[in-house]
Parts: sequence; structure tokens; C-alpha cells
Amino acid sequence: MTERTSIHGQWSSRLAFILAATGSAVGLGNIWKFPYIAGENGGGAFVLVYLLCVFFIGIPIMMAEVLIGRRGRQSPINTMRALAHEEHQHGIWQLIGWAGMVAGLLIISFYSVIAGWAVAYVFRTASGAFTGVTADGAASIFGGLVSDPERLLAWHTMFMAMTVVVVSRGVRSGLEKMVTVLMPILFLLLLLLVGYAMNSGKFMEGLEFLFAPDFSAITAGGILTAMGHAFFTLSLGMGAIMVYGSYLPKNVSITKVVVVVAIMDTVVALLAGMAIFPLVFANGLEPGAGPGLIFKTLPLAFGHMAGGTLFGTLFFILLTFAAWTSSISLIEPAVAWLVENRGIDRAKASTAVGGVAWLLGIVTIMSFNSWAFEFTFAGEAKSSGLFDVLDILTANIMLPLGGLAMAIFAGWYMSERSTMDELNLGDGLIYRGWRFLVRFIAPLAVVIVFLQLLGVIKV
Ligand code: PHE
Repeated sequence: MTERTSIHGQWSSRLAFILAATGSAVGLGNIWKFPYIAGENGGGAFVLVYLLCVFFIGIPIMMAEVLIGRRGRQSPINTMRALAHEEHQHGIWQLIGWAGMVAGLLIISFYSVIAGWAVAYVFRTASGAFTGVTADGAASIFGGLVSDPERLLAWHTMFMAMTVVVVSRGVRSGLEKMVTVLMPILFLLLLLLVGYAMNSGKFMEGLEFLFAPDFSAITAGGILTAMGHAFFTLSLGMGAIMVYGSYLPKNVSITKVVVVVAIMDTVVALLAGMAIFPLVFANGLEPGAGPGLIFKTLPLAFGHMAGGTLFGTLFFILLTFAAWTSSISLIEPAVAWLVENRGIDRAKASTAVGGVAWLLGIVTIMSFNSWAFEFTFAGEAKSSGLFDVLDILTANIMLPLGGLAMAIFAGWYMSERSTMDELNLGDGLIYRGWRFLVRFIAPLAVVIVFLQLLGVIKV
């Protein structure tokens, strides 16, 4: 095979890829979503299932996704088409790319609305609104925000515009540097919050909630949510990591970078949990408060610690940045495809994709007020209507199915020679272990979770 290159350029180094992929992985999923879904699903057992999924399903599938991307060197749709052809397989495999593009659009539509909450909180915190705030006060400030569609629309519009601007300029210029500085600061601030939580009086209770598994607290839906979250938090199954992989220089070890990214992503999520749950218990709050959880608890910490206004403002700025570096990867597959197949420039392509996603975002905006409704999904109570539907459809169904298809393609339909060449590990234990996981364990695990959800099997 002659060496392919991407028309969209390449990461400047291994570190650049690690930063970009970590930027994609670390986002609202870690800091906003993980704590609230862990809280809704009873903590420990949920966290354990999530961790097992990250290691046995997430890491091998992430390696598969990166290797497919790097071998194809195009947008996910064209990469899948090219590789299917090259491996003498059916063209239907490009469906992975199409489904991923749709999943990305659906996810960014709600992701941008939630990121808008973070932006709103930058200004809220900076204005000193949380100084000395009570739990009820924090809850009512949050309630005031989400019950006002016009404000939500304004912040959503702003965040979507930010995303479009970066993607227009190409994900590699500017972005690389931004992430280098911001990620370490976010990490430090999380440590500060964990430090604060240690003195909240309920630190041990928080840790116990998070790490002591109580299997009676988890439902079939909870197990699915834990697995879906492993995909969501690692940005897997929709082509974001594939398209980033397509910009990866050939000499970089995929195994090493993937392990680093997965570890960083997991550490950030666990730190967020360790910061939030002690506060939840110290203030007599509900762990299962839903999507508003961090917005109701963190202001309590910032409102009572020395320098809280400054640290709080900084925290929400960084949360916005973390969301930003994820949102760009959500639309990059669609943008790269438009550039490749429609011959339009990046700026127009990003605007078009951002525009569609912006419009779809209105569904999420209304889910928290006028259109709100409650329903139960596989034993889990949901109260934010169509937002919850979108979340379940994408994170819990589309991403795992996309990841499953990628694992099967890399494990069963690509030749051993191709994957061995791309992973460049030789024919040793690590390569054999990866291949075993990607052919048997990861697909089986995904299928078992779906079957137990459908009630076909009982685990
Ligand atoms: N991983 C991101 C987060 O945890 C969300 C995301 C999902 C980004 C899928 C890209 C693709 O916030």
C-alpha cells in the first residue's frame, strides 16, 4: 500500500495528538455528566461497571478507531469506504461513518446547550451571586436559568459560534496550544475542589458512595448507562477519534497514546466525583438530582471558600474550554466529509454543520422548561423529556453500536497484516491481547449489555 496522507493536514507531534484527543475526551462528560449519572444510579456499582467498560471495551475500541482513522486518512465516511474496498469488504461498512455523523450532530445539539450553562455560570460566579449562598439559593439560581428558554438560547448560540470559529480555522491551528495550557489548570482546580471537599465533613461518605459497590442499587438501564458513558466520555463510536486518528503521524504508537488518553479521562471524572459527592452529602442534597447536579453543588463550595469568586469563575471558564475542545471534535467528521465530497471550504462547511446543530439544539432548550415530561427507561426515572431521549439514543445506543461495528471491522474484517502494520507492536502479547479483546470480549460485552436490557438474559 502506498502511504496515504490527509488533505486536512497532520498533528505536529505525538503530544499534539494526545492533547487533542484528551481535549475531545475530557469535557462535560467527565465533570457534568459522570457525577449526575453516577448519582442517579446509586454510585459504587455503577462506577465499577463504568471503569470495567473503559478498560475492557473502551481502550481496545479506541485503538481500533484510531488505527482505522490513520489507515484511511479521510473523514470517517470516506475512510470506511476506502478501507472496506482495500480489505475487499462490502461497501456497507461506510454506514459506520454515516451513523457516526448523525450521532455527532445529535450530541453537539444538546452538548452546546449544556456548555451554555457553563458559560452562563462564568458570569454568575464572577458577579458574586454565589457568595454565602445556601443550597436552596443555588438550586433556585439554577432553576431560574433553565426555565428561561431565551437565556438558554443566547448562551447556546454563543457556544455554537465558538465551536464553528475554531473548526473553520482547522482543528490543528491554535487549538493545540490552547489545550496545552488549559488542561493542566483545569486539573489543578479540580484538585483544589477535592481538597475543599476533604474538609466538608462528609468526605468519607462521598468516597463510599462513589467506590463501595452496592449491586442492589443498579438497574439494567443503569448498566447500559455505565457502558454508554464509557463510549461517550472517551468520544468513541461516532468517528471523532477516527477523524483525529486520520491526522496522526505514522510513526506514533497508537497503544501508548490511547492508554494515556483513557487514563487522563478517567482520572478527571473520578476527581469530579470526589469533589461533588462530599458536598452533596454535607449539604443534605440528593445525589440523584439529575443534570443540574454540579450547578447546584459547586456554587456551594465556591460561595463559602476563601477566594471562591475567583476560583469559581476560573473553574467555569475552564469547564467551558473543556467543552469547547470536545465540541469541535463532534462536528469535525461532518465538516471533513463536506470538504472532501462537496468541495466547499472549511468555513462554509463548519457554518453549515453548526447551523443545523444549532437549530436542533432548540429541542434540548425546551426540554428543561415548556416541553419537559417525565418517563421511565429500563428502571431509570427521567424528567427532562426529549433531552433524555437524545441522550439515551446517542450515548447509550448509537455510540455502543458504532463502537461494536468498529471493533468487528478491525477484528474480523481487516486483515491481520493491516492491523499489525498499523499498531506496529509486532506479533507479541500486546497485539494478541488487543486482537482478542476487540474480536471477542468487547463485542460480546456490548451485546450482553443490550440483551440484558431487552430482558433476553438476566445477569
Ligand atoms: N467525550 C466528550 C465528553 O466527555 C463528549 C464527546 C462524545 C465528544 C463523543 C466527542 C464525541 O464530554
